[in-house]
Amino acid sequence: MPLWTVEGGHRLSGNISVQGSKNAVLPIMAACLLNGGETVLENCPSLLDVDASAQILQHLGCEVSRQEDKAVINSANMDKSHIPHELMLKMRSSVMYLGAILARTGEVTLSRPGGCELGTRPIDLHLSALRQLGAEVSEISGNVHCKADRLRGAYINLDFPSVGATENTMLAACAAEGETIITNAAREPEIVDLQNFLVKSGAKISGAGTSKIIISGFEAQKSVSHKVMSDRIVASTYLCAVAACGGDVLVKSVDPASVSTVTSALREMGCSIIAGKDWIRIRRNSRLKSGRPIITRPYPGFPTDAQSPLMAASLMADGTSVFVENIFENRYRAADELRRLGADIRTEGRVAMVSGVEKLCGAKLSATDLRGGAAVLIGAMSAEGKSEIFDEGHIERGYEDFDSALGSLGAVITKE
Ligand code: UD1
Repeated sequence: MPLWTVEGGHRLSGNISVQGSKNAVLPIMAACLLNGGETVLENCPSLLDVDASAQILQHLGCEVSRQEDKAVINSANMDKSHIPHELMLKMRSSVMYLGAILARTGEVTLSRPGGCELGTRPIDLHLSALRQLGAEVSEISGNVHCKADRLRGAYINLDFPSVGATENTMLAACAAEGETIITNAAREPEIVDLQNFLVKSGAKISGAGTSKIIISGFEAQKSVSHKVMSDRIVASTYLCAVAACGGDVLVKSVDPASVSTVTSALREMGCSIIAGKDWIRIRRNSRLKSGRPIITRPYPGFPTDAQSPLMAASLMADGTSVFVENIFENRYRAADELRRLGADIRTEGRVAMVSGVEKLCGAKLSATDLRGGAAVLIGAMSAEGKSEIFDEGHIERGYEDFDSALGSLGAVITKE
């Protein structure tokens, strides 16, 4: 498991390109099961979660190969509909395979994803939607089993705009007879990318990016090519790293609109930010100040995944920064680690208050979860002296070559 050593206190400068999006590519990889042919994915990031998803596809009988930023997936010979527990454990988003395998084979068994470092992570909305599409859902010995001789289109209103439940429903509904309408759907940009991919694969689907998605059929295209969108959370993380360390950085391959809640928070804190069609330049020279409260909400609200990196940027901001986490109950685990650097953070339920300190000092730290791990790394980069971060593999689930990427901007990080 990686040990990150960080020598803090270096300003960041230069250019950096943002990798392909983890949260877009994972459901798209599951969706590759639907066409029964060959899919070429460009801008596919090299991440532990992508490796875990590739292993699931291979277990199901698909061929998967990687070459630089391309992944080629052939699902023609898929011959299994069961994902074993060991493979499910590697990645929570493997729950996406419920809808995809059900659509392809009419039956799926996988072990129920348990809780994770972010909290309980229920899948009731996913299962309810699949039932409404006509699947029989049963649970035995920790396994979820879904079976449908025939899926039927349905009107499905999600109680909460869950990203995963929206994506799973879109995937299963591709194989349904008749029209499916999802209301209160999640509106995240990754859902638009999934829709773009499904359209290329032969789906009649529209509405992604709004709260109403309509799916009315699927005629498989055997050869599909798709460029995965860039990762708005990784872009946000780089922006927060510059805010924390100071400097002048051009972040390339990013859609500024997709990170506008993060850039407006950073502007309010005193960063100078300008943007073009697919780039953002951030400069921070003087001490940051606290901004208005950061309240996480489903898109287009402030993303829960960017909350920890922004908290890391606020540790030395003048004044008190307030965070309200509305999506996951355990998103403040990184706060304990950041305190080791000398940060003044109080948490009470969904609320965290950060009173900005004058300086932080390097310490021995742990990466608590993916985004919390990135936050701890940013905290260490902005602290004086050396830090060591013990990481059980969280950071590399979502950040490609993070040490060399940040190193190219002047951060001093080694990974063993
Ligand atoms: C996805 C993202 C994750 C991001 C999250 C919210 C991927 C691979 N992961 O996760 O990075 O932080 O969106 O933007 O895309 N819930 C239920 N029942 C359900 C499903 C969800 O109660 O059946 C709750 C969850 O516990 C959570 C909230 O809904 O409190 C949001 O979860 P959801 O939008 O489903 O997140 P994920 O799809 O798991």
